[in-house]
Amino acid sequence: MSTDEGPRGAAPRGDRRPGVRRGSGPPRGRRGPARPPEPDLPRAAALELLDAVRTRDAYANLALPAILRRHRLRDRDAALATELGYGTLRARGLLDAVIEHCTDRPLGKVEPALLDALRLGAYQLLRTRIPPHAAVDTTVELVRGQAGTRSAGFINAVLRRVGEHDEAAWVARLAPSVEEDPLGHAAFAHSHPRWIAQAFADALGSRALGGRALAGRTPDDRGELDAALAADDARPVVHLLAKPGDITAEELALVTGGTEGPYSPYAVHIEAGSGAIGDLDAVSEGLAVVQDEGSQLVALALTRAELVGGDTGRVLDLCAGPGGKAVLLGSLAAMDGGTVDAVEVSEHRADLVRKVVDGLPVTVYVADGREAPLPDDGYDRVLVDAPCTGLGALRRRPEARWRRRPEDVSGLARLQRELLTAALRHVRPGGVVAYVTCSPHLAETVGVFTGVARRLGAEVLDARDHLPGVPDLGDGPTVQLWPHRHGTDAMFLGLLRRR
Ligand SMILES: C[S@@+](CC[C@H](N)C(=O)[O-])C[C@H]1O[C@@H](n2cnc3c(N)ncnc32)[C@H](O)[C@@H]1O
Repeated sequence: MSTDEGPRGAAPRGDRRPGVRRGSGPPRGRRGPARPPEPDLPRAAALELLDAVRTRDAYANLALPAILRRHRLRDRDAALATELGYGTLRARGLLDAVIEHCTDRPLGKVEPALLDALRLGAYQLLRTRIPPHAAVDTTVELVRGQAGTRSAGFINAVLRRVGEHDEAAWVARLAPSVEEDPLGHAAFAHSHPRWIAQAFADALGSRALGGRALAGRTPDDRGELDAALAADDARPVVHLLAKPGDITAEELALVTGGTEGPYSPYAVHIEAGSGAIGDLDAVSEGLAVVQDEGSQLVALALTRAELVGGDTGRVLDLCAGPGGKAVLLGSLAAMDGGTVDAVEVSEHRADLVRKVVDGLPVTVYVADGREAPLPDDGYDRVLVDAPCTGLGALRRRPEARWRRRPEDVSGLARLQRELLTAALRHVRPGGVVAYVTCSPHLAETVGVFTGVARRLGAEVLDARDHLPGVPDLGDGPTVQLWPHRHGTDAMFLGLLRRR
């Protein structure tokens, strides 16, 4: 992965604040007395983001907009800060392996703030087109300003060693052998923890490693796992939902400069830093919300699945926060005279749902979906968009892959089973339940879905029938979407009908 956002980003016109240099390398050709180096704001912002994630357990996508605002970064500068911050967080595993090789001490002995700076510098050296001297010098100056000359010397020495090879050469030197350990090699090369690469490989099945015997593989003989991890490591395109009834995807694409999504009739894709999305008029006016196209597809599949018996238009969203799918379901219900009840266990997230569904026929309840005291059961359709590891949306959550632990899975699977069981209580006979996760981990997807369907004797529908026009959906009856195949997050969908 590389970026064009090199060090040439100039200060926006009109920004003549003294002492502020935006997005460029060190000052050149200055005369006169030496003055303290000016802060490089995009890199300072990126470093601040790394600090927030490390020290406050912040979510990068929530912390970044405030950091950009504080530094008054917009346009190219905001894009550069986002790219450097997100990219460094994503690539942490690979960067740390290289940095460790280039230092004379274990990483645990490097002061954490300096390690952040090393990661930021190494990311620029290995995964951007920023010229090496600018990548090193700007990082060194940042550290000199914050931690003094001695620390700056350490950063300079390590980064110069990092810059002796490019990314491919470091992978060739440090990754497990592709012949002996193809999974470990792919995990290293695409900077994923091994257990996550294993979970992807399990979900991809025989296509994961090319379906070839390990003996006789060559470094070029890559299977789909490689593509899946690479897509997860790339900067994602932002997807918007054009709210049905308020604006069409065609109109939204026109006003945002985006393009219509290939599969959902309501999707628009735009190339924009996530920090800038709130600035779009269509979003601030409530005509569109940020929502992955895969999320739209699984919610639409629920509305398309055939019921046995009449349709009263009553829909239940059992895990609704922060409300993305409730907006889509509510907008469609508004057009068809239906209603949506939205349940969310967290008060704060229920508030977020209330805000986004304002004006739609959606009633929000704060309750545990496993025992929600809903006024009247017998829904036609129930969505269980279950709390999960989120391994399918790692490209949008740059820090998540290093935060999640394999031991998170079993507790979540128990909760998911209980929520799906409750959904089958709330749906009327002949009604349909959609079980959805934004994770491809088999224990959270097929494991939960087939276990509950079997135990409760529910009819399994072929989910592929309800995703018209979407290619490469596997053997069914459940569906796993993938970033590398569909350009969506790795959403899972299973459909059940209560007998
Ligand atoms: C994957 S998110 C749902 C995303 C949402 N459907 C959307 O499209 O924006 C899962 C949600 O379930 C909520 N949740 C977790 N445990 C729950 C429970 N026992 N009952 C209801 N909601 C729960 C979480 O707080 C979280 O907001």
